[in-house]
Amino acid sequence: MINDQMTKSTTVYVCDNCGYHSAKWLGQCPECGEWGSLRQLRIKSEELRIKKGRSLQSLRSIQSVRLLRLNQIKPRSVKRIKTGIGELDRVLGGGIVPGSVVLFAGEPGIGKSTLLTQVALSLGSARPAGEPPTTIYICGEESPEQVRLRLTRLLSDQSDQSNNSDLLFLPETDIDLIIDQIANCKLQMVKLLIIDSIQTLYTTDLPGTAGSITQVRECTQRLIQLAKTKQMAIFLVGHVTKKGVLAGPKTIEHAVDTVLYFEGERSADLRLLRSVKNRFGPTDEVGVFQMTDAGLKEVINPEILLNSRPLNSKPPSGSAYTVVFEGTRPMVVEIQALVTKSFAPLPKRVINGLDRRRSEMLIAVLQKYLKIPLWEYDVFLNVAGGFRVTEPAADLAVCAALYSSYKNEALSVKAVFVGEVSLLGQVNPVSREDKRQKQAQALGLTDFYSDRNITSITQLKALFNSI
Ligand code: TYD
Ligand code: MG
Repeated sequence: MINDQMTKSTTVYVCDNCGYHSAKWLGQCPECGEWGSLRQLRIKSEELRIKKGRSLQSLRSIQSVRLLRLNQIKPRSVKRIKTGIGELDRVLGGGIVPGSVVLFAGEPGIGKSTLLTQVALSLGSARPAGEPPTTIYICGEESPEQVRLRLTRLLSDQSDQSNNSDLLFLPETDIDLIIDQIANCKLQMVKLLIIDSIQTLYTTDLPGTAGSITQVRECTQRLIQLAKTKQMAIFLVGHVTKKGVLAGPKTIEHAVDTVLYFEGERSADLRLLRSVKNRFGPTDEVGVFQMTDAGLKEVINPEILLNSRPLNSKPPSGSAYTVVFEGTRPMVVEIQALVTKSFAPLPKRVINGLDRRRSEMLIAVLQKYLKIPLWEYDVFLNVAGGFRVTEPAADLAVCAALYSSYKNEALSVKAVFVGEVSLLGQVNPVSREDKRQKQAQALGLTDFYSDRNITSITQLKALFNSI
């Protein structure tokens, strides 16, 4: 009799998506809301009894492990949610993918909370009036009052505030309470969960304080599971230090779908949003923002913000334009140089926004091939707008700016320089030169100097005299 019961098999229907099981077939899974995802499984009663004590997820593994041919894998069309903030949507690859987890990393004070509050506002105002809220903001770092203060600041220039009145906030840091709250939430409409920040969350199941590696990892894993089962996107805020080494965010980069870095000089207004990993989009896109009194504004033409003078105005001596790539985006930036007679035993070299070693190499190249006695001069180099240039494509512009300042003669209004300078004083080609030239031309900078018309740095001298 006992033996008979143990071998008797039962039919259950298990959701392929979340592992929910039911005795009868259902068109839609009541757990995750997926249609047509329940599959019939025949399992032994004994197995069911054992499995019932465990998580529903493990039930799925009994018979669902199977090999798939490539043509059995159906392409899934993903309907992305537009945040309404164009620069962010572009960096994400066209909007938020439901069920994805995005890590938003950056130094404290750079503007992560500001940007995500704007996302919540934007999604709130895109929602038709009367519809339930779509975003929940977990404020672990600040009190709801502080978030409200920021919202008031951000809303000061918006006329329609009515739709934002019911944004949802949850001031909680216990991950289990948060997940319970959301799992029991009747709001089917919640599409985005913003966690500010992952370093404030903790679970009582593990030792260690919030922000420790084990806590950050465990909380992230639980949130990833929540995102996948509820098909809800999650934005995780993660603080990093200048070197980007703080325990938390680096250790979870492999687990999340997308990693975005928010960067910029806190003293300057410019902010860059870079994607360094993206399972659903490109990794070389960059979003450009400006921090203003009323939040972050998208910057469509960064050149206006970057440069100290209006384009097409007579430049002062020591200023030269170049075109660098930020991801797939070419940007015209201004290199500024100041070369002054030195009275110190060792001349000064102050370099901002450029690689120090590379700049010193260029100073030596100028000294040797243009025969200018820079050892008697202090040299200051800067990139306008607090921008950082890492590409060697800016070498020729650095040389032109230095020489312009030394000669105290301005360059032509329409001049732009692109090229890598070698130790032998030659100008070498750089990648995507045509795109750089096109961008410069679009801004009226038509005198394009590169390896095509300057092969050696010595020609810069002759060219300079003719300008
Ligand atoms: P915040 O988003 O709190 O930074 P994070 O979350 O990355 O730590 O941004 C803080 C800075 O931004 C703070 O110095 C004030 C400034 N700020 C503005 O300049 N304008 C604004 O509208 C807001 C909301 C903040
Ligand atoms: Mg913050």
